[in-house]
Amino acid sequence: MEHIVVNGLTKTYCDGTGVRTVLDNVSFEVHKMERIAVIGASGSGKSTLLNILSTIDDFDDGSLKLNGVEMGGINAKEKSRIRLEKMGFIFQKYCLIQTLSVYDNIILPVLAKGEKIDEVYIHGLIKRMGIEKLVNKYPYEMSGGEQQRTAIARAMAGRPEILFADEATGNLDKNNSETVMDMITECIDSYGMTFVYVTHDMELTKYSNRILKIEDGGIRCE
Ligand SMILES: Nc1ncnc2c1ncn2[C@@H]1O[C@H](COP(=O)(O)OP(=O)(O)OP(=O)(O)O)[C@@H](O)[C@H]1O
Ligand SMILES: [Mg+2]
Repeated sequence: MEHIVVNGLTKTYCDGTGVRTVLDNVSFEVHKMERIAVIGASGSGKSTLLNILSTIDDFDDGSLKLNGVEMGGINAKEKSRIRLEKMGFIFQKYCLIQTLSVYDNIILPVLAKGEKIDEVYIHGLIKRMGIEKLVNKYPYEMSGGEQQRTAIARAMAGRPEILFADEATGNLDKNNSETVMDMITECIDSYGMTFVYVTHDMELTKYSNRILKIEDGGIRCE
């Protein structure tokens, strides 16, 4: 079943030097529970595409459907509800809240949704990420890898349908990157999530079912 359908999507940026078309009439589909790696040179539009798919950013032309619902015309409030309900995000810079413990960071999306905390599910995530001993610590007391594993548990805490990651392991060394990618893919498979991730590291495309390559404003499936 199609989870994300992109049709004739175009995104341009205007700056001092003029108009730049970053995505030029691109079309593709992502099926439920697929793992998609988005690759391309620096500045090719990988983050732009991820931000559009996750409804954080607007597009200029074409169509984006999530679960068959067109995202083009809907208002900001509705988009933010969809993000909260259906999406999880992992960023290169972790984006943990320094004044909250690991546990409190992780449960944030559940609190934001106003849902009851499913302790069994949350503790399952904490265990899978190997951070059981760290739950009472604060982000500044932890290594980069530990912070990223916390951020991943947080991204999955609200049981998202789609997990987006932009250079999720960009701050980690090769061993840690692979450990983290193994953990993510194991989780998304067992929870039945769709995974769309940006990487500049060709090695990490091995965790995908399919590669989308952005080049000169176009997208090629590999
Ligand atoms: N808000 C913005 N205003 C103007 N131009 C922008 C904006 N955001 C991105 N761009 C431009 O769009 C192009 C694509 O940027 P994007 O961040 O998507 O690239 P990327 O593939 O993620 O690169 P990297 O691998 O370096 O993260 C770049 O040329 C960038 O300068
Ligand atoms: Mg980027």
